[in-house]
Amino acid sequence: MGILNDIRAKAVKFQKTICLPEALDERTLRAAADCAKLGFGPIVLVGDTAKIQAKAGECGADISKAIIRDPASDSEYPRLVSTLVELRQAKGMTAEAAEKALKDGIMYAAMLVKLGLVDGYVSGAVHSTADTLRPALQVIKARKGVKTVSAFFMMALPESSPYQKIQPVLFFGDSGLVQNPTPEELADIAVGTAQSWKALIGSDPIVAMLSHSTKGSAKHADVDKVTAALALVRKNAPELEIDGELQGDAALIREVGASKAPGSKIPGRANVLIFPDLDAGNICYKLTERLAGATAIGPLISGMAKPVNDLSRGCKAEDIVDAIAVTCCQAAALS
Ligand SMILES: CC(C)(COP(=O)(O)OP(=O)(O)OC[C@H]1O[C@@H](n2cnc3c(N)ncnc32)[C@H](O)[C@@H]1OP(=O)(O)O)[C@@H](O)C(=O)NCCC(=O)NCCS
Repeated sequence: MGILNDIRAKAVKFQKTICLPEALDERTLRAAADCAKLGFGPIVLVGDTAKIQAKAGECGADISKAIIRDPASDSEYPRLVSTLVELRQAKGMTAEAAEKALKDGIMYAAMLVKLGLVDGYVSGAVHSTADTLRPALQVIKARKGVKTVSAFFMMALPESSPYQKIQPVLFFGDSGLVQNPTPEELADIAVGTAQSWKALIGSDPIVAMLSHSTKGSAKHADVDKVTAALALVRKNAPELEIDGELQGDAALIREVGASKAPGSKIPGRANVLIFPDLDAGNICYKLTERLAGATAIGPLISGMAKPVNDLSRGCKAEDIVDAIAVTCCQAAALS
């Protein structure tokens, strides 16, 4: 697929160091081997060296170019412990609790990212979204000026879709993380997803704030939430091309937009769709995938101070390579 090839090519150029904490998972080891073959920057695996090498041997993955960070011999381990205590002291973190927390490879990866020893991490082939993201939310945190980290899906439309000729790729946010966003959180989701568009696709994001109402056609607190979020984005990120509230058809189809939202410059051009809540975002990405035949890539994470990405537990090695490539592009955009 064109877009993923472009992102992989950028990953080769950026040479970022990405950590994979689920180092005993066969797909993860294959992905590490594939990244080396493709010429990506270094991959860091976390765990027991002997076990990782034995597993890689079993599944025929050449991980000779990967770096293994084995907590038992890692010279940085004491610094990871003391920094974790420092960061989470107010939450009751002690040295003993930090050592226990660092037994979790994902927390280990989060601390490596926090200390700048790697540029980002990718996990979730084995762990749930919550387990993949919680350590990152606790120690890496949202980027300056952003309070809410969110998740989006990159939706690559098939040629059979009428919108494919206008926009072959759309971002759907938040489709995976923030359950019932406040206006402030929704504004952060819009800005974060738009920034991810710029980092990954390169062109300017054109953002539609979706609703069941277009420009006041319905009156409800749910509509007010969307218009309040839009006002916040306009105040905090005035450079962003954004409009709302718009129904899905008004956002995507120029003629419908011209009649329902005359004067709006978004209809027929939108590439970033922001949903009012997680139910809408998650349901729409799955329906677009199943009914329109789109390819859904994600959940990908926006708004972190340093990049972290989640995987689906049904993922293949090539999906992990794509998530690593995305993480490299996000790291480059932040550096
Ligand atoms: C991500 C998620 C696991 C975090 O919730 P949690 O595990 O209950 O963790 P907490 O609410 O205790 O938050 C942990 C920390 O992360 C922070 N945090 C949580 N969500 C955040 C967000 N969206 N942005 C920024 N920070 C966030 C909290 O402020 C807290 O920080 P602190 O410990 O320093 O005070 C939760 O939002 C979630 O389960 N989301 C839905 C994911 C899901 O099921 N998706 C399915 C569709 S794919």
